[in-house]
Amino acid sequence: MSRHASRRRTVAVVLAGGTGQRIGLAIPKQLLKIAGKSILEHTLLVFEGAPDIDDIIVMMAPDHTDAAEKIVREAGLRKVTKVAAGGATRSETTRLAVRMAGELVPAGEDCNLLFHDAVRPLLSQRVVKECVAALDRYLAVDVGIPSSDTIVVTRTHGEDGEFITQVPDRSRLRRGQTPQGFRLSTIRHAYELAAADPGFHATDDCSVVVTYLPDVPVHVVQGDEFNTKVTHPIDVFIADKLFQLATSATPEQGTEEFYRERLAGRTILVFGGSYGIGADIARLAEGYGARVHALSRSTTGTHVERSDHVDEAFCRAYAETGRIDYVVNTAGILRVGRLDRTDNATIREALEVNYLAPVNIARSSFKYLSETQGQLLLFTSSSYTRGRAEYSLYSSTKAAMVNLTQALADEWAPDGVRVNCVNPERTATPMRTKAFGQEPEGSLLSSEAVARSSLDVLLSSMTGHVIDVRQQDPTAGVGFEQALAAILNEQDGPESEESDVRQL
Ligand code: CTP
Repeated sequence: MSRHASRRRTVAVVLAGGTGQRIGLAIPKQLLKIAGKSILEHTLLVFEGAPDIDDIIVMMAPDHTDAAEKIVREAGLRKVTKVAAGGATRSETTRLAVRMAGELVPAGEDCNLLFHDAVRPLLSQRVVKECVAALDRYLAVDVGIPSSDTIVVTRTHGEDGEFITQVPDRSRLRRGQTPQGFRLSTIRHAYELAAADPGFHATDDCSVVVTYLPDVPVHVVQGDEFNTKVTHPIDVFIADKLFQLATSATPEQGTEEFYRERLAGRTILVFGGSYGIGADIARLAEGYGARVHALSRSTTGTHVERSDHVDEAFCRAYAETGRIDYVVNTAGILRVGRLDRTDNATIREALEVNYLAPVNIARSSFKYLSETQGQLLLFTSSSYTRGRAEYSLYSSTKAAMVNLTQALADEWAPDGVRVNCVNPERTATPMRTKAFGQEPEGSLLSSEAVARSSLDVLLSSMTGHVIDVRQQDPTAGVGFEQALAAILNEQDGPESEESDVRQL
């Protein structure tokens, strides 16, 4: 349902009251960092960015409410209206949240409640939207996905172990996920009835409705395979990989006035700024009043692999403008060919330009960016997700950019320095044409579009992200399906920002 004055209010309850016994860490698993942010923050950002969500209540493990408050404060999450201590069990936490949600709406008024496990940080905007829409028609909504495994029911017989008692029809089985959505009045009533049952036990909230309000149909919204719950150590690994893959949607484009307001008088250094995407970033930023230093081998004699050249570029820019707000590196080279036929000089050059240079730039940038709470923006290519024959040096150095981005975002977060990485789809640059010839019109992104998205990232508050820039932006939220499809279908040359491409 679209936003209009009369629509029912929707409150998201993020259930973070557990301690994560099964994962066995010293801190609750929702505070574990993945891709530069705690799992809890990733989850909260999904609801913060969901147009249908009005308020967020965080139910936190009792000894860690301070940590949750800090996350909310530092991430500037405006929809979070309450951070409270959870209960001894998940159901107890829900019960407390129902009471709190009741205080948010005037007496006698109903609202929608979405309960979501804090430890499912990969929730998509599609699922949130479909759950809220479903609550227009139904009083209770679950999220489920078909089970690809056959599920068996067993019984334990003493020391002999387990034996199958039943094999339910797999086609009707669904694996339950969250969010689970309810009208406040419905879930409140279900829990009132449950309170009178001495044998009450539940591990989710839909089962409370199914058990105590059997006449209420619980609608099922199709979930996502990647909406995984971090439960065991292996899930941390999987979630980490998914985040690496997943890439973020480009932040919303600002208005011309927004760009001018945020860029006028700011200093930007663009390494690799003489042509292609780098030149377009420099030109656009200058147009909005930024003081731009476009650096390259050909125009300013800056060899990015030389740390003295990089240092000097920073010193000069700082001496001129007294500040450095944004640092972008688009310099990179692509050498195509078999590694066993590559000479030492070529290997060194590829590693120096694609890896050592960003490291140099990053190191030199820190002291300036920490003064301005600025941002370092690096570039990768979708070939980072999977190494391919003849692109070994290119794809492995591009994978390194993603890892470097995540590491530095984490390392510099306390200093307010943001680090992100743009992953452009195949882009029309002079060097791409040189490498792959003329390609069908409309099959490539314009370098100006990539440059504009790069500015959007620079002006956003995100950090530790790999931002996919595609012809058609992912409909919403994380773009796992697109990223997976890109990996599985990757056939031709990488979509790169390279400033120099050469067939060995
Ligand atoms: N949860 C909660 N209050 C509790 C227990 C759990 O809000 N008393 C939340 C967890 O924080 C988690 C979600 O419910 O986001 C799903 O629970 P689960 O994965 O079982 O989390 P834990 O209880 O933390 O894990 P474990 O069972 O391994 O201890």
